[in-house]
Amino acid sequence: MDKLVIQGGVPLNGEISVSGAKNAALPILCASLLTAEPLTLGNVPQLHDIATMRKLLVHMGVKIEQLDNNQISLDASDIHTCEAPYDMVKTMRASILVLGPLLARFGHVRVSLPGGCAIGSRPVDLHIKGLQAMGADIRIEHGYIEAKADRLKGARIFMDIVTVTGTENLMMAAALAEGTTVLENAAKEPEVVDLAECLVKMGAKIEGVGTDVITVTGVANLHTASHDVVCDRIEAGTYMVAAAMTGGEVKLKRARADLLDAVIDKLRESGAVVEHDSDSITVRSEGVLQRQGALRSVSVRTAPHPAFPTDMQAQFMALNTVADAVATVTETIFENRFMHVQEMQRLGASIEVEGNTAIIRGREFLEGATVMATDLRASASLVLAALVARGETVIERIYHLDRGYERLEEKLSQLGARIQRIK
Ligand code: UD1
Repeated sequence: MDKLVIQGGVPLNGEISVSGAKNAALPILCASLLTAEPLTLGNVPQLHDIATMRKLLVHMGVKIEQLDNNQISLDASDIHTCEAPYDMVKTMRASILVLGPLLARFGHVRVSLPGGCAIGSRPVDLHIKGLQAMGADIRIEHGYIEAKADRLKGARIFMDIVTVTGTENLMMAAALAEGTTVLENAAKEPEVVDLAECLVKMGAKIEGVGTDVITVTGVANLHTASHDVVCDRIEAGTYMVAAAMTGGEVKLKRARADLLDAVIDKLRESGAVVEHDSDSITVRSEGVLQRQGALRSVSVRTAPHPAFPTDMQAQFMALNTVADAVATVTETIFENRFMHVQEMQRLGASIEVEGNTAIIRGREFLEGATVMATDLRASASLVLAALVARGETVIERIYHLDRGYERLEEKLSQLGARIQRIK
């Protein structure tokens, strides 16, 4: 299994480009199932999760052509199975996103229930309830969700918890339903907006995206379209925190500051200078490598967009381990998302966990050690900690990073980091 070896202590400087968003690309790939005409996508990141989704779609009969490094075309004119088997779904929860599109277009679907997940139980009850409200007959049998419907019917659906993939699944199903669907307490995440923009290009009638009430008027068919996936705000945010911690000046090209308000606010509070134009963000910081105490401790509390994203929580925990005072990180979305704490403690961090809050006392320095990546964002936070730690850090099980960060070590090397992948 691959490992990353990082020699800490180098301030980051230079420019890199931000990739397309994994969490936008995954639902958009599934949107190809809604039409018999080709869908062409640009800015699709080359990541493990994207490869997994492609494999699942190919298994169903979608023909996928790689047009360029990040450009693909998907043709779902000849679907021969509407089943997503356990072996494929268990490796990636986002596989549940085939449920809505297949049910809406073919009237039947069988998708394995996603198994347990490292960051909490993460049920899919709201996806199921929403489809039932649209008239689907749904049974859970032998670990599979089996759904049938002649044609889905528009409905008013209230989701009592904000769910990103739940909103996406129901929006895709509603696009081909008969009549109007109103999704209340819908997710406002930029990835939901990007999916909606792609669906509209395919002929869907959707209003209210980016607000918590989305109205979808169903149409009989969707058609061919091309779409460029929005930039990855979490990837951008991760490199922004890296620059703030190590110090230096990093410009992120193809990054959108308007999607990162909460993160930018917190970085400024920590003492970093953040500037931006319409498609780039620059972070300048003195950093803790040049002066101990250069970063101020900043407390964060995760909540649905536009509040502070849960996918940036671990990275801010890393920042706080070397900041000047005490901060709290409170996780309100997922119940078990502090697995990085133990590993950061191996690097010398001072963190206590009480319920869903971590209390982090900034230390003068961290020390390199061998640590293990546990989930995607936890792994990213270990990379950040390693960049400021004294000496060498070895990060094992980095397949988690490959799920969500395109060419991570190449991009960090480009900024001057001493980072190497060992096969
Ligand atoms: C998506 C993102 C993930 C991010 C998360 C929250 C993708 C592929 N993944 O995950 O990176 O961390 O949003 O921003 O886009 N819930 C229910 N019932 C449901 C669905 C969700 O109770 O039917 C709960 C979950 O357990 C969780 C909360 O709702 O506590 C939010 O989860 P959700 O937004 O659905 O996360 P994902 O869409 O899986």
